[in-house]
Amino acid sequence: MDTINGRYFRNVLGHFPTSVVAITTTDADQRPQGLVVGTFMSVSLEPPLVSFLVDSSSTTLRTIRAAGRFCGNSLAGNQERLSRRLAARGTDRFEGVTWKASPLGNPVLDGIVAWVDCSLEQVVEIGDHFLVVGRVRHLRVESKRTPLLFFRGGYGDYLSTTTLVLDRLVGW
Ligand SMILES: Cc1cc2nc3c(=O)[nH]c(=O)nc-3n(C[C@H](O)[C@H](O)[C@H](O)COP(=O)(O)O)c2cc1C
Repeated sequence: MDTINGRYFRNVLGHFPTSVVAITTTDADQRPQGLVVGTFMSVSLEPPLVSFLVDSSSTTLRTIRAAGRFCGNSLAGNQERLSRRLAARGTDRFEGVTWKASPLGNPVLDGIVAWVDCSLEQVVEIGDHFLVVGRVRHLRVESKRTPLLFFRGGYGDYLSTTTLVLDRLVGW
């Protein structure tokens, strides 16, 4: 087996495009908290579960565990600045960010594509990350905006090459 160099690992894996999802929650004082992940995915339909991976050093994970809930916000193609802000360290990430509360009380950010409101189901340690599994309680498509994508260390907007088949399912 090859010894895997960390930089090389990140470089090659950076060639697998990801979504850009803001995971949000609130702390004990009801202040918004969150981070950006590229690892958000659907896990199960019965029961309805989603998940994301978070670094073991994450400060937001502690808040999510305490709150017992989080919301996955699918960022829109024109929200690169918002993504940078919500991925930054050592700043108040939510300063100037507008949002409304989800049914569970998690921040739903203005201008996003869709959101999934979850109660915390399970946290599993895997390697140097935790797999955070949420049980979906409420979910909604907010707009027809195209989603923000991440690829080779940079952001991009989605460009469809087929008919958007899901439009019919959400009743646009
Ligand atoms: C596009 C993008 C995708 C990211 N994906 C993840 C991820 O899946 N898991 C993770 O832990 N951090 C991810 N990060 C990094 C976190 O957003 C960043 O390290 C943040 O400061 C962590 O905050 P925390 O310490 O509050 O958890 C990503 C950053 C960007 C810009």
